[in-house]
Amino acid sequence: MKRIEDELIKGIWALPSFPVVLVTVGHNIMTAGAFHFYSFDPPCVMVGIIHDKYTNELMNQYNEFGINIPTVDQIEIVHICGSKSGKGGENKYSLAGITPMSGVKIKSSLIKECPLNLECKVVHKIDFPGSHQWFVGEVKAVHKDENYSRDQALMFWGGEYRKVGEFLENS
Ligand SMILES: Cc1cc2nc3c(=O)[nH]c(=O)nc-3n(C[C@H](O)[C@H](O)[C@H](O)COP(=O)(O)O)c2cc1C
Repeated sequence: MKRIEDELIKGIWALPSFPVVLVTVGHNIMTAGAFHFYSFDPPCVMVGIIHDKYTNELMNQYNEFGINIPTVDQIEIVHICGSKSGKGGENKYSLAGITPMSGVKIKSSLIKECPLNLECKVVHKIDFPGSHQWFVGEVKAVHKDENYSRDQALMFWGGEYRKVGEFLENS
């Protein structure tokens, strides 16, 4: 039996998991669960950053970002980059024991240890007065480890980390 929920936010928390990503801007890193693709042609992704985060300030300053896909084995990096702020000059690469890698299309660093990195330039900002500011980034370069598989990615939602679900059939 279905019932009408008393709080509308419960509909959002009941959604299935999303991939969690590490957003890099300048020399800072921030964990983000608010991430999705936006367009196939041109290839674009979008990420939602809460207004008062240091990363939001950096996004509006640099107008570019890196999307770094962590694996299930990199959950500790996700914790560190999702709980420490870079605002006071804290270097999250050192804190998390990871290595900055140069991109070819953006000035911002990427994370060497992540098996998939997307270099993005901001093409659109969504200034709806909600909890997050959304940044649409056109993918300008992709770095993919030859052993990378989508199954290695880490999923997150509603306070739970999960693995990618089992394969059922091709579409
Ligand atoms: C699993 C997880 C997912 C998160 N998702 C987001 C998100 O989508 N957007 C956001 O603005 N903050 C998100 N956060 C919070 C930021 O990562 C966190 O506040 C971070 O310390 C901000 O770093 P900064 O101050 O260097 O920008 C998430 C944190 C965790 C642990």
